[in-house]
Amino acid sequence: MPDPAPNAIRRLVSLDVACFRELRLEGLKTCPQAFGAMWEDERAKPTEWFVERLERNIIFGALDAWQNLVGMAALFPSDAPKTRHKGIVWGVFVSPRARRAGLAAKLLDAVLTDAAQVVEEARLTVGTSNAGAIGLYRRAGFTQYGQEPRAVQLDGVYYDEYLMGLRLTDYNRPSGRRALSDPMPGAT
Ligand SMILES: CC(C)(COP(=O)(O)OP(=O)(O)OC[C@H]1O[C@@H](n2cnc3c(N)ncnc32)[C@H](O)[C@@H]1OP(=O)(O)O)[C@@H](O)C(=O)NCCC(=O)NCCS
Repeated sequence: MPDPAPNAIRRLVSLDVACFRELRLEGLKTCPQAFGAMWEDERAKPTEWFVERLERNIIFGALDAWQNLVGMAALFPSDAPKTRHKGIVWGVFVSPRARRAGLAAKLLDAVLTDAAQVVEEARLTVGTSNAGAIGLYRRAGFTQYGQEPRAVQLDGVYYDEYLMGLRLTDYNRPSGRRALSDPMPGAT
């Protein structure tokens, strides 16, 4: 029997709304400390709201051999005149069954490679105790430029966050690799 196909990384489009919504809600529900958004709020949003997010953000997904969406990463390019050189990375999540296989690193690379065409700076916030995500972002070249005490509050507990940034004009594709953001067959 042939090996199953490796994970595919591709940009998500509005037709992916059902699996995007499902994975996003899985992330919010299972990792509430990792995200600013609330599962209770987003699960009540209509499908059109998720479609708009797909249209207004750069969102890449990782699909397993059975075409199930198992990971995602997103960047919102600011549309305000004075900040449109910046984009905010959000929604980085890989399903527990697919972790530690390099998917988040590939997803982030795909998002940043794509975003480098439209913004000059990437920004993000990450919980100071989220060692896995901090390692992921440092590996991609992000550096810490600040720390916000008591940045988020959940069930009466306050969490600090690091502010991290990356100059995308310096963002280089690792040489010899296909750009992950190049269109995948069938992606529109
Ligand atoms: C953080 C997360 C996205 C990493 O996904 P992943 O696919 O397992 O990550 P990768 O396999 O691509 O790992 C890339 C790098 O991240 C770091 N990393 C990832 N998971 C880690 C862990 N559990 N412990 C330490 N470092 C970790 C490492 O530096 C790793 O590079 P290496 O394998 O060369 O050591 C995943 O654990 C997750 O979804 N966590 C819950 C949601 C979350 O915290 N999102 C971030 C919000 S800011």
